[in-house]
Amino acid sequence: MIDLLDGGYLRHALEQDVRTGLTAVPKWLPPKWFYDEVGSELFVRITRLAEYYPSRRELEILRRHAAGIARLALAETLVELGSGSAEKTVLLLDALATAGTLRAYVPVDVDRSVLEGAATRLAPRYPGVRIEPVRTDFERRLTLPSGPERRMVAFLGGTIGNFPPAAREVFLKDLRALLRPGDTLLLGTDLVKDPRRLLAAYDDPLGVTAEFNRNVLRVINRELGAAFEPEAFEHIVRYDEDHEWIEMRLRATRAMEVEIRALGMVVRFEPGEEMRTEISAKFRPEGVAAELARAGFSVLRWYTDPAGDYGLTLAAPRD
Ligand code: SAH
Ligand code: AVI
Repeated sequence: MIDLLDGGYLRHALEQDVRTGLTAVPKWLPPKWFYDEVGSELFVRITRLAEYYPSRRELEILRRHAAGIARLALAETLVELGSGSAEKTVLLLDALATAGTLRAYVPVDVDRSVLEGAATRLAPRYPGVRIEPVRTDFERRLTLPSGPERRMVAFLGGTIGNFPPAAREVFLKDLRALLRPGDTLLLGTDLVKDPRRLLAAYDDPLGVTAEFNRNVLRVINRELGAAFEPEAFEHIVRYDEDHEWIEMRLRATRAMEVEIRALGMVVRFEPGEEMRTEISAKFRPEGVAAELARAGFSVLRWYTDPAGDYGLTLAAPRD
């Protein structure tokens, strides 16, 4: 595994994010810190919940279209950003193998445990394919394999929606700048729909999403010697109709003073105070096309499920 997050980088980034987010008004934390071994496992459990449709819909689209995508992309290297457990990826890998082009799979994630798990699971399934995991923070250190092979960058799950719009634009432009003629981008986006379904997808009755949300506090406790009591924070979900995004928040159920030892700071919470931990943008097909065009991509194909819940775009860098 190539680890670009050694040398204290990750710790430094977490310190910066926590200091910035918890001294802001209102308080916020970036969602990438949900994902340690426990958080990644909770996310897998989320994808199996009846209410959480995005993963199922994306899988449906890939079942129907992976072969066509592979024939259009003819990728030799599949780079997957935010690969997680890489369950859906198998469909793409199989299709690229069948098309006869697949040489390498490069899962990219901030969480080491999912990269190790995916590599161990996939290696025996694809003998002769190089599996080369990269641990990095793709928001700050985005790099692609530099060999001569034709690459497809897959960014699935709707994770692009976890960036605020300005960061999304920067990210897509940075990615575009790294691509060469012949490379492609496969981008998964959750679509705007009845807010009741959106709210249900992020507030399941079993409380799995609530535990996932609170996990960010456990990560900060462990990494920065903080004293958050996760159970003293309530899981809150809102749909912001103006921005067309879901917001997850943690609400303090009482007044608290939380020490964060590594930062030498104490963070005060008023009773009922809410801190934002994630946005998850929902897209319109024309919005996805417009954002990709602004970043220098042309759309090759747009795929959706019969219900129109989710969209997958195959795009290429424009000359
Ligand atoms: N693609 C998978 C997993 C989505 S969960 C799916 O569709 O099911 C989001 C994944 O992105 C997690 O595995 C998380 O660790 C990773 N991730 C989130 N922010 C990241 C960042 N800034 N850099 C690298 N990986 C990140
Ligand atoms: C990874 N990401 C696209 C998920 C989402 O739907 O925004 C994370 C998630 N948050 C709550 N449930 C799932």
